[in-house]
Amino acid sequence: MVRVLICYASYSGNTEEVAEGIQKRLLEMGMDGDLYRIRPRLTDLPNPSEYDAFVIGSFTWVKGSTPKLVKDFVAKLGIKPHPVFVFGTGDTQFGGDGLFCRAADKLARFYASPFPPLKIEQSPRGDQEMIVDEWTKGVADYCRQNLIVSAS
Ligand SMILES: Cc1cc2nc3c(=O)[nH]c(=O)nc-3n(C[C@H](O)[C@H](O)[C@H](O)COP(=O)(O)O)c2cc1C
Repeated sequence: MVRVLICYASYSGNTEEVAEGIQKRLLEMGMDGDLYRIRPRLTDLPNPSEYDAFVIGSFTWVKGSTPKLVKDFVAKLGIKPHPVFVFGTGDTQFGGDGLFCRAADKLARFYASPFPPLKIEQSPRGDQEMIVDEWTKGVADYCRQNLIVSAS
């Protein structure tokens, strides 16, 4: 079974909701998905080597920035696991399309993600649920086609 670690940071719940949606869909597709919430105190870091793939999600902060707690997490994790799939939530009211979900773009570039990042405007409800569905299906297909998974 493909084991996926879904790490996310969330202040007001939107990114958490997307993370939970991704986990639910991965489980429905017969994969294993653990959630890890990135908190300011990074005392219980996950071990990426226990997983076959890594998903990281972040909201975008002021002027398209990546939140400090996410930057600290990335730095503390040290290694670059592979593959890494990225998702983010944002709000076009804070700078239009140019700054929308910029943190997700930057993380995807940093991790050389094999996939364009999933971008959700605020909460993943209504029409955007389908976008989460499609993206997660793409992640699952990529994993099935490209990963050699040890039996466990
Ligand atoms: C002060 C502030 C600045 C923000 N700046 C941006 C931004 O530059 N780009 C963007 O896409 N979203 C921006 N947002 C919107 C948040 O990223 C968005 O509400 C996100 O869904 C929050 O995620 P969370 O509910 O998981 O904390 C900003 C929000 C706040 C409060």
